[in-house]
Amino acid sequence: MFDPVEKLKEFVRHESVSTDPTYAAGMVGAKEFVANLLGSIGFEVEVVKTDLHPLILASRGGDSSWPHVIIYGHYDVQPADPLELWDTPPFEPEIRDGRIYGRGTADNKGPLMTHIAAVGSLLEKEPNLPLRITFMLEGEEEMGSPSFPKFLAQYKERLSEADLVFLSDTGIPSEDQVVITCGLRGVVLCEVQVTGSKRDLHSGLHGGVLRNPIQAVTELCASLHKPNGWVDIPGFYDDVLDVEQWEKDELKKLEGGAEAYRKFLGIAKFHTAEGFDPFEAIRFMPTLEFNGIGGGYQGAGSKTVIPSKAMVKISCRLVANQNPEKIRQLLHQTIRDRMPDDVTYEIIDDHSGVPYVVVPPDRTNTPADQSAVLADAFRAADAAVNDVFGKPPLYLREGGSVPIIADIKKVLGLDSVMFGLFLPEDNLHAPNESFKLSVMERGMQVCEQVLRRLANR
Ligand code: BES
Ligand code: MN
Repeated sequence: MFDPVEKLKEFVRHESVSTDPTYAAGMVGAKEFVANLLGSIGFEVEVVKTDLHPLILASRGGDSSWPHVIIYGHYDVQPADPLELWDTPPFEPEIRDGRIYGRGTADNKGPLMTHIAAVGSLLEKEPNLPLRITFMLEGEEEMGSPSFPKFLAQYKERLSEADLVFLSDTGIPSEDQVVITCGLRGVVLCEVQVTGSKRDLHSGLHGGVLRNPIQAVTELCASLHKPNGWVDIPGFYDDVLDVEQWEKDELKKLEGGAEAYRKFLGIAKFHTAEGFDPFEAIRFMPTLEFNGIGGGYQGAGSKTVIPSKAMVKISCRLVANQNPEKIRQLLHQTIRDRMPDDVTYEIIDDHSGVPYVVVPPDRTNTPADQSAVLADAFRAADAAVNDVFGKPPLYLREGGSVPIIADIKKVLGLDSVMFGLFLPEDNLHAPNESFKLSVMERGMQVCEQVLRRLANR
């Protein structure tokens, strides 16, 4: 068996930033690296071309009576900027204090390596394990998986005969409390560009006769929340469902507490949607956030100008049963209704993702037709976490999004068992991203056990 940490270092050295074309070589390198690694542990590897970054399908076949698990992961990473805030270069992995540092170490190369290493070591010990495994790895997750729906449609027949998807692309509150994620938020993204005058104007010569586009943008932004923290878009919450009691009870078992979380964030106080504590707000409520705002002079000193243009980037996180395209239309309508008629504007839509929930077996709302293999996979994960971490997992929804998980459910009919592996201090998408090696080590043991238990169900 290969050394998982050494292999992870090699993986991280491939600069696989999917959104930025200047990193094309890193994308190719990372793809070839994983394809070769999967080949080296006996998988039949197929590289599936797309319009952008290829997918990797790697399979270990077997008897059609054996359970079939798809392991999902992504080999692309977020951009590394701002580079000056990294203590060591993002694509030169370094181990310090039991952590491996580098872009993508946690999201998602470390967790993916955890699964690959677990499979490699398990099959080495049990070459005849009665389990079919397909790795399904993409290179576009961090840019909204534009090629994934087409791929799913093309491979539908072959993939839908699997039993479930198993992945680690979600978080855990601490190493003492592992989580099996049973919900992901959806997402809707757009940008609003507002234009006032046709060019920048002297604010003395012309100030007082026109609306400044920065004012139009900020007034729009200010109108999108109520003082009580709820989003102020008519109809925004119409499709949000009540959460089952077992989920609320499960959340109460979360240790650590709000005060520790407040300090971790470094904020003076929480500002949640009224009626929800911070932990509920993340999991049970949709949001509207401003991700970027701009316009006018940003340089040193001052400049007396009325800028011609201003912009804001907006994203909404959605919860189960909300429809991204419906929310997009409501957002558009609200912008149309509230934008003054003395500026012009354009809404530039970006991608969206459907929210997802999966209910573990033996809950009040477990679907009656839940497959026995899926139910057993949850039980296997529960037992494995209990054994390796000495404590059963919690079953919680996550605030983040992995939009293709809902697409997989819709197109292939498959649910996902999501074994969380990132810690809050891993700095996903931020400078000094890292992944804790003890989590990786124990994660491997859990993955191995889950697959073994599934094979012997
Ligand atoms: N792995 C993350 C999602 C995630 C992060 C889940 C933290 C749980 C905790 C994934 O790679 C990601 O960043 N997704 C994006 C999706 C977006 C680009 C549509 C996200 O959540 O912002
Ligand atoms: Mn990820």
